[in-house]
Amino acid sequence: NETHTSLIMIFGATGDLAKRKLYPSLFHLYRKGKLADKFAIIGTARSPWTHEEFRANVKDSVLTALGSNEQIDDFASHFYYQPHDVTDSESYIKLRNLAGELDSKYELQGNRIFYLAMAPEFFGTIADHLKSDGLTETEGFKRLIIEKPFGHDLESAEKLNAQIRQSFAEEEIYRIDHYLGKAMVQNIEVIRFANAFFEPLWNHRYISNIQITSSEKLGVEERARYYEKSGALRDMVQNHMLQMVALLAMEPPIRLSTDEIRSEKVKVFRALRPIEGEEVNNYFVRGQYGPGSIDGEKVEGYRNELNVDPQSNTETFVAGKLMIDNFRWAGVPFYIRTGKRMTAKSTKIVVQFKDIPMNLYKNNHDQLNPNLLVIHIQPDEGITLHLNAKKSGQNMQTNPVKLNFSNEGSNGINTPEAYEKLLYDCLQGDATNFTHWDEVALSWRFVDKISEVWENTTSSTFPNYSSGSMGPDDADKLVEKDGFFWWNVT
Ligand code: BG6
Repeated sequence: NETHTSLIMIFGATGDLAKRKLYPSLFHLYRKGKLADKFAIIGTARSPWTHEEFRANVKDSVLTALGSNEQIDDFASHFYYQPHDVTDSESYIKLRNLAGELDSKYELQGNRIFYLAMAPEFFGTIADHLKSDGLTETEGFKRLIIEKPFGHDLESAEKLNAQIRQSFAEEEIYRIDHYLGKAMVQNIEVIRFANAFFEPLWNHRYISNIQITSSEKLGVEERARYYEKSGALRDMVQNHMLQMVALLAMEPPIRLSTDEIRSEKVKVFRALRPIEGEEVNNYFVRGQYGPGSIDGEKVEGYRNELNVDPQSNTETFVAGKLMIDNFRWAGVPFYIRTGKRMTAKSTKIVVQFKDIPMNLYKNNHDQLNPNLLVIHIQPDEGITLHLNAKKSGQNMQTNPVKLNFSNEGSNGINTPEAYEKLLYDCLQGDATNFTHWDEVALSWRFVDKISEVWENTTSSTFPNYSSGSMGPDDADKLVEKDGFFWWNVT
């Protein structure tokens, strides 16, 4: 439990992300003694706030999120605010001076983390100014945390990357994918590589298919300006879904270092079969929600949402079949599915094992259930193994049983937020759970080919699923045509 010393400069300090996630996470770290007294936060945004207004806001966000106020005044006293214009050098010079003052006041050793939690169109500009206005000239470390979206496609991502690389080295860039901060996503590796009964079976010989579902009940909310241009493919598949695929499919790294783990993930992306042109319709299904009901409450369809084009062609749901063309995974489909306004808020991975060579229990039972390993990412955290056992009684009848491990007891409300873990990793200089440029580039390359087809053909069937359902029928057919179905397991 080392404590860490740094200045953290947050761009977008008045925004939603900072308020909902960053301040409560920083407070947790503070309470756990991981920030000690040697830290300072500078918040910047356009609004002309004072330090006091900012601190009141920070306290409010911590109270709302955690309902806790012990030590809050002391915590908030480390926060400073500087109104900022992202395109104006003078603004940056003021920031630099304030950073210098706080550096001596809190003995920060010149360590600086710049956190870009704002509209992506300014990422590049800010990175440029940080260098040209001298903020990156410091004796300690300098690190850039950058929120998604990292570009809109490969081309724009390359441009952005080239721009920020002018001011920061690859090792200094921390591209956030908050799914990599989730406890059970981090657990995928451990479950696979620390258990004798998984790793030997973790390949095409014993696994028939893998299904990853990340469903949400929320609709587009107030984010249509962004979401209309993004859609579920860019918003969820390019990053979170593909990252989970990489962790499930990668080879064991030779050691648990950042470089080794990332390079194994990169190899998965390289082995991902490209899906393009006419193939897209065979491998991918898009959906858009219509009206329906969520938990008994009527909700509007996507096209009626605020700031959404009444004829919008944007997908709010994606299902896809991914093939990883390497020795381990030859022939094993990875099915992914994600969407808004679905039945439940849940992220789950189901690993379906192949049937055993011969079913001895056929006479008593029509069918044996396949073995399943379910990894519950959220809201429940845990794993479930589905097995077949003997029914009690005289006959040799089988009965499906579940072995359950739930993280609930030990964690529950104290489960560190993904953001807390990721902030702490960055303070420690550990970039393992952030995405390397190569991963970003390869996942855009994959996704671009699909969006190209979808953008050039209007879907005549939108809206094609009701709010509150599990998506369009075609998503079921996608799996059924391979002889499988989506497991709806608990
Ligand atoms: C974000 C997307 O990256 O992930 C959102 O932009 C989505 O559209 C969110 O709602 C889902 O994250 P979580 O942690 O709630 O599953």
